[in-house]
Amino acid sequence: MIETRDLGVVFSNGTEALKGINVHIDDGEFVAVIGLSGAGKSTFMRTLNGLVKPTSGSVVVGDVEVSKLSGRGLQHYRRTVGFIFQQFNLVTRLTAIENVLHGRLGYLPTWRGLLGLYGEKDYSLAADYLNEVGLAEKHNVRVDALSGGQQQRVAIARAMAQEPQLVLADEPMASLDPRLSDVILGLLKDYNKARGVTVLVNIHVLELARRYAERVLAFNQGRLVFDGPTKALTDDLAEQIYAGSLEAL
Ligand SMILES: Nc1ncnc2c1ncn2[C@@H]1O[C@H](COP(=O)(O)OP(=O)(O)O)[C@@H](O)[C@H]1O
Ligand SMILES: [Mg+2]
Repeated sequence: MIETRDLGVVFSNGTEALKGINVHIDDGEFVAVIGLSGAGKSTFMRTLNGLVKPTSGSVVVGDVEVSKLSGRGLQHYRRTVGFIFQQFNLVTRLTAIENVLHGRLGYLPTWRGLLGLYGEKDYSLAADYLNEVGLAEKHNVRVDALSGGQQQRVAIARAMAQEPQLVLADEPMASLDPRLSDVILGLLKDYNKARGVTVLVNIHVLELARRYAERVLAFNQGRLVFDGPTKALTDDLAEQIYAGSLEAL
């Protein structure tokens, strides 16, 4: 369960990135986040994993009030949230499996992590998830020798290896050939269905949001302007979202 109450973010330079956001998401939902560039989509996702601290309101995920966490508590919480970035954020000189193993770091005592002393279970999970994203042949290939689409699949496997309660994907297809969008979204959707993990994905192509998500959250200038089933998102409404002519919810 995710719940935000009157969530607001004002950055130190005065930018109001989020204003009064009230959202409730049940476990296991697959939600698309849409809106123009600068609308607040990434900031919203970052408040959910504690990367950005709200300046007002609250964020609760599961039984944790994320907005109140700091230090070790925040570190501990973050390992339960998988984050998939537009730019993959892999360690390019390491192999695919070494990158996926990084998803297990939160489960290791720091000294073991620093020495790369993963357990047998960590290796077998990392291998399973790489197979699950279709990279069975690539475990020991350095990621800088992989294509962009393959690198993003490594990043997805790394998020899965965290065995998270929530996966946040912030424009995961934006650096890839559009033809790969279905591969990436298909993997996230299959994972969501098979494991019941909540997935939020920032999708800027409306047609893809419609095809994969059951629910859409739309932002405009820091406000939530649409929250409903994908089926209810008509072309007319979509136009108003992008034109900025919808009232805040
Ligand atoms: N760290 C930051 N400091 C100041 N302003 C920021 C920061 N991050 C984002 N912003 C601003 O907050 C607004 C929302 O940004 P963002 O959440 O990245 O939007 P989106 O992901 O929808 O493109 C934008 O005006 C952006 O310039
Ligand atoms: Mg963004």
